[in-house]
Order: sequence, then C-alpha cells, then structure tokens
Amino acid sequence: MKAEPINACAASLVERFANRTALVGVIGLGYVGLPLALRFSEAGFRVIGFDIDRAKAEAIASGRSYFLHIPHAAVATARGRGFDATTDFSRAADADALIVCVPTPLTPSREPDLSFVINTIESIVPHLRAGQLISLESTTYPGTTEEELKPRIEKRGFKVGEDIFLCFSPEREDPGNPHFTTRNIPKICGGSTPACLEVGVALYSQAVDRVVPVSSTRAAEMTKLLENIHRSVNIGLVNEMKIIADRMDIDILEVIRAAATKPFGFVPYYPGPGLGGHCIPIDPFYLTWKARQYGLHTRFIELAGEINSAMPHWVVGKVIDALNGRKKPLNGSRVLVLGIAYKKNVDDMRESPAVELMSLLMARGARVDYSDPHVPVFPRMRKYSFELESVPVSSETLPQYDAVLVATNHDAFDYDLIRRRARLVVDTRGVYREPSPNVVRA
Ligand SMILES: NC(=O)c1ccc[n+]([C@@H]2O[C@H](COP(=O)([O-])OP(=O)(O)OC[C@H]3O[C@@H](n4cnc5c(N)ncnc54)[C@H](O)[C@@H]3O)[C@@H](O)[C@H]2O)c1
Repeated sequence: MKAEPINACAASLVERFANRTALVGVIGLGYVGLPLALRFSEAGFRVIGFDIDRAKAEAIASGRSYFLHIPHAAVATARGRGFDATTDFSRAADADALIVCVPTPLTPSREPDLSFVINTIESIVPHLRAGQLISLESTTYPGTTEEELKPRIEKRGFKVGEDIFLCFSPEREDPGNPHFTTRNIPKICGGSTPACLEVGVALYSQAVDRVVPVSSTRAAEMTKLLENIHRSVNIGLVNEMKIIADRMDIDILEVIRAAATKPFGFVPYYPGPGLGGHCIPIDPFYLTWKARQYGLHTRFIELAGEINSAMPHWVVGKVIDALNGRKKPLNGSRVLVLGIAYKKNVDDMRESPAVELMSLLMARGARVDYSDPHVPVFPRMRKYSFELESVPVSSETLPQYDAVLVATNHDAFDYDLIRRRARLVVDTRGVYREPSPNVVRA
C-alpha cells in the first residue's frame, strides 16, 4: 500500500498513542485479553477492560488474577495504575482504541462460530465516536474484518479509514511460556486502509517490541491461520510417525532428538495423546470453511485433523494392550490419569485430549480418577462433566491403580516416585527416557 498523508483525525490518534495519553479498551479479558491489558498498563496507558463475565470485572476491581500463570501482583499493580474493568459497554465511547479478544470457537457442525465477535461489535457500535481505532485479535478466516466488522461500523454513518480506523492484529499468546510474552512476541498488523494500518501500528508499537505490518486485514487473518495450520499439520505428521515407529519398535523421541541436530531444514515437533487448547484443534477449520466458498478443499488440514483426533483412541489401545500383558481387562481396572490440562504447567482444560482419554476409558468400563495439581476439581465443561476431584500422587495412592496414564507432563509431578510406586505407567509424553519394566510408551 502506498503511504498517503493521514487526516487530522488519524494524526490526533497517532499522537495520543505516541504520548500515551490515550485510553486503551480491551474487550474480552481471557487468556489473550488480560495479558494484553496488563501490558498496555505497564507501558503507561490508562486501560479499561470489557467483559460480559461479571466475575472477571470484579476480580480485577479487587486486584486479583483468575489465571494460574498470571500472578495476582500483576493485576494489583495495573489496578494501582488505574486499570479498570466493566460490563458496561457504553464506556466504549471513552476509549481511543478498542481491541477485541473474544472467543472464536466452532459450532457443533464444525463451522466458524462468529457469534462472540458479532455480539461484541453490536454492543460497541452504538457507543462509537469519530476518532477511534478498532482492532480485532480473535483468530478467524480471511475476510472477517472487511465482511463482518466494516459494514456494521459504516452502517452507523462512519467511514472506515476516515473517522474510525479498523485493523486485524492476530494475537500470538502462549500462556505460561516464560520466554515469550505479549511484549516480545512480534505483532502482525493489517489495516482496512493505509491510514488504518498507520494508526494500528502506532498503537501496538507502544507496547510491543516489534510490529510487522502486512498489506491488508485479510493477509493478517491468513498469517495467523498459516501459523496454526503449520503446527497442526506437523503435529499430525509426527503423530503418524510415532505410530509407525512404535510398530517397528523404534523410539520416536530418540529419532526426533537425533533429527533435531540438523542445523537447517528441520523443525522438531513432538507427538502426544492428541491435540488440545483453544487454537490448534479449531482454527484450521475456519480456513476449511472459507476455502469451500472458493471451491477448494483443505486436504492437509483434514488429514492432520483425522490423525490428531484419532490419537486418544490409539493411546487407549496401548493401555488395553499393556493391561492385557498383565492378564487384566480394562473393564473394571482402576486407571489414574495424570495431568488433565491440555499442556504442561497450565490450568487450561479447553479441548484437552486427557479429558477425551478419561471418557474413552470410562466408556470401556475402567474406573478412572485423575490427578492434576492445577485443576483441583473437575470443572463443568461443554462436552464433559465428571464428579471428580484431583487425587494426590503419593506412595500410598499410586499402587492402588492398575495403570497410571501420563497425559500431561506437568513439572509438579514427581516422576521418579511415579515410576517406583505405580504398577504400570503408560507414558504419552516421553517423560521416561530409559526403558523400565513397568513403563510403556504410548
Ligand atoms: N488462548 C490462547 O493461547 C490463544 C492463542 C492464540 C489465539 N487465540 C485466540 O484469541 C481469541 C480469544 O481467546 P482466549 O483464549 O483469550 O479466550 P477466553 O475464552 O480465555 O477469553 C475470552 C473472553 O471474552 C469474553 N467474552 C465473550 N463474549 C464477549 C462479548 N460479547 N463481549 C465481551 N467479552 C466477551 C469471555 O467472557 C472471556 O472472558 C480466540 O479467537 C482465540 O482463538 C487464543
């Protein structure tokens, strides 16, 4: 896009961002929105958070964090600097920037569910005024910003690029990763017009070390999908390699570690019991849906999805075989599932393959318990709800189970104790490198 001089409305916003007098609004204070709000506060901005969940607004008002990986002190410090949260969307009028970080799940028939994004836009549109930036961060298909947001804003009589500035800037949060935080993860930004891009880059560059501009909102939307599809496909590949290596009696983790010594052209991905989290199992299907409108099939996405979603079944097969080797049927056996969050050291249960494993084991008659130091009580989930509490892992509890299944490798577990005291360990995460008579890889 050719840079043209921006109008007075845009110039004044850019100036308010540069001198940090702007009020930054973050809509959706979840895993993405809360750290972003805290970062803008840390960078010296006044910040207001919006959420439909009253409990989140109340937690912030009392300076408390509701995420394991975000300390209370971080929220309390931001609160001290004026960070406020509300369920009152009329206050959107006060904000100079409105950054939208609401969920983008799939419907039960695996189509994009944009209802959270649309509800958000519809709740803020009545309160918009000239001279505001709106940035969508929720992962979505190419075209969402132009097709769903822009017309709703313009219907109120604003011109995007002249009095309201519109961007798509995909979020790249990796909750719990100590090396990469909101500040040092480079931020992609695409604008609806060149002026929108300039305003968007002006905002984010105050809080993020490196902003990477792209030529359109659609390119920015597609960038995020490429990143997630790249992961999903490569995890699918390595999961298939694991099944092949297992049949050939080769240790796949040894092979990955060896291949990873190649200094170019190879990126290690690690197999597991299936895909979890809010992004990787879901986002690729946003592209699948959109590609259909162009008469195209997303074959890699479908194949990776098929392999990854079959992994919990494969793991259950390994548990059955291991018990069988000990003359025990799964039906009636006691199984302890270790780690039910979708990845290590977090309390996020969304799309966790561990929960699917529990359900598959129960359906085959196993008596299942779980242990997860980060999830003391099994939460009510969309698909599953078990009346269970986390069982402590100890010298006394471990031998009570016929099998202990390592589903998520939290650092808090004492793996040496588990190996010594459990009768049988089925390890889906490769925590046990050395062979042991009671450890089976899955
Ligand atoms: N969590 C991650 O690590 C991650 C990584 C990459 C991308 N994303 C993407 O970021 C987006 C947000 O994900 P998240 O993990 O933060 O979700 P989340 O569920 O943790 O948080 C979303 C928040 O939005 C609130 N909300 C829902 N509807 C609302 C509305 N109409 N108005 C105001 N608030 C509303 C919810 O109450 C919740 O607090 C999604 O598109 C997701 O795909 C998330």
